[in-house]
Amino acid sequence: MSVRSTARILGCALLLVVGVFALPAWTSAPNASRPGSSSGTAGPAPVPEYAENGMVVSAKKRASQAGVSMLKKGGNAVDAAVATGFALAVVHPYAGNLGGGGFMVVRMPDGSVTTIDHREDAPSGATQDVYLDDDGNAVRQRSRRGYLASGVPGTVAGLLTALDEHGTLDRATVMAPAIRLAEEGFPLPHTMAEDLNDRYEAFAEFSATKKYFTKGRASAEYRAGERFVQSDLARTLKRIRDKGKAEFYEGRTASLIAEQFQANGGLIDAQDLAEYEAVERDPVTATYRGYEVHSMGPPSSGGVAIAQLLNAAEMRDIDQMGFNSSATAHYIGEAMRRVFADRAKWLGDPDHVEVPTEGLIQKDYMRERMASFDSSRITPTDSVRAGEPMLAGESMETSHYSVADSSGMAVSVTTTLNSGYGSKVMIDGAGFFMNNEMNDFVLKPGVPNQFGLSGTKRNLVAPDRRMVSSMSPTIVETPEGELSLVIGAPGGSTIITTTFQVIMNVIDHGMDIEQAVTAGRIHHQWKPRHLSHEEFALSRDAVRNLRARGWEVTEGVFGGIPRWGRAQGLRVTQSGDEGRVFYGGSDPRANGAAVGF
Ligand code: DON
Repeated sequence: MSVRSTARILGCALLLVVGVFALPAWTSAPNASRPGSSSGTAGPAPVPEYAENGMVVSAKKRASQAGVSMLKKGGNAVDAAVATGFALAVVHPYAGNLGGGGFMVVRMPDGSVTTIDHREDAPSGATQDVYLDDDGNAVRQRSRRGYLASGVPGTVAGLLTALDEHGTLDRATVMAPAIRLAEEGFPLPHTMAEDLNDRYEAFAEFSATKKYFTKGRASAEYRAGERFVQSDLARTLKRIRDKGKAEFYEGRTASLIAEQFQANGGLIDAQDLAEYEAVERDPVTATYRGYEVHSMGPPSSGGVAIAQLLNAAEMRDIDQMGFNSSATAHYIGEAMRRVFADRAKWLGDPDHVEVPTEGLIQKDYMRERMASFDSSRITPTDSVRAGEPMLAGESMETSHYSVADSSGMAVSVTTTLNSGYGSKVMIDGAGFFMNNEMNDFVLKPGVPNQFGLSGTKRNLVAPDRRMVSSMSPTIVETPEGELSLVIGAPGGSTIITTTFQVIMNVIDHGMDIEQAVTAGRIHHQWKPRHLSHEEFALSRDAVRNLRARGWEVTEGVFGGIPRWGRAQGLRVTQSGDEGRVFYGGSDPRANGAAVGF
């Protein structure tokens, strides 16, 4: 790791520490943004962004501004989300994308909720054998870098399906900010300039990537503030603007992708692209202390896992137990172990395998799963295994953005290339990165993916199948049915535990949205066996108490999980005649921004 990367990580850690502990009390947000009691001990965080007409929170300020510009034109939350998504593909190439996929949860003004699954699917030539060597061992790198790593991209289909079905503005209007940012360029933030320079070697391996994202020589570096123009990407966006989805999947962009993949030993061909479709699915809905929580169903594991975690948390008075006390961490750590064991066993693509979603999210099922909980000791590791939910017939580098408008419409989107800059392959002539989502499949039972997640044959590589995800775009409504919270995060397996803890921070601990996304977190994913915590998330006292109960407690990053979730959320409150009020919370772990209107 370069000195600059280390400095950046230290910088982020410092920011987090400052955010959690050191800011003065006057930075606390108004109580109106805090629904519950306020026993949170995470300390004050920066004031949430405040607005009266709508809010967009994303990983990049320019993308949030692109979204808000749609609201200002009279567009709705979907118009704003689609503009934000395309703008992220330009200003956040690390994770924003045209060559990746994601999930979108949409709440209509009348309170109905739908989701648009635009997860990548496996090319028709993808079989398990492609990722195994002659001895049957998984060759992990094939699913992580280069031409075998990509699934068929879903982002363009997802965004444009959302626009067609639920938007009000035309394609040209919502894509205009992205096209302008690509064509005219934008000043490179220092973090992005450093990141591109640090990745020279990885980028130089692929000719188009070397052309677009390096200056040709290792010694020629990007500088903060220089204008970053992406002309071919601008042309691609204009073609999509003029001809729609069909251009990306059957037109010139499709030919550029298919020809480059076929010429380089990749699997994606013209037919895979032509056959790709975004799928509208029902959300997974859970209740939590009277609130209604809508999140993403399979092939994402996010909604199911969050529902299970909330069902476990609801059985205890988490507020009384205290924010990140040893009692709370012990209890939710045990819930996380059980939930991730279930994830590994049961989750898959619902169009290819039966996923017992309804059984897993039942409150009684989680009650049964937590029956072995012992407040004084951890459940022995070997005895924590997946449960047996009822099957349906009998009674699973990323970026998140949250949008809400004045009508009560809200959109929660998590999008990804998987790793930062995906497979590192860019499409020549089209100017965008391809994903490395194939690593989210189980390459071989027992072999964990890059986030340390394992699974069963339900998530094996198979033609046209969608790989299980942890992405958890979520929308929460109050017990009265009003829009309350739009939330989600990137971060691999920590997406689930991040989203869950932000919801608890707001509902149980009464934090405002900025405090809730800033507060230190814990994470357990069944395997590896460690209970992880962010620096300063647990006191020494809590760590001692947890160790005494048998936990292996690890501070910080562990087991191949590269980062903690970086949540982007917003809170909506409504009082009397005053209408809706919006509070935006952008995680200080990222360089994002909440922009209100
Ligand atoms: O779908 C998933 O669960 C992963 N591909 C997400 C990857 C991710 O969050 C990386 N970002 N930090």
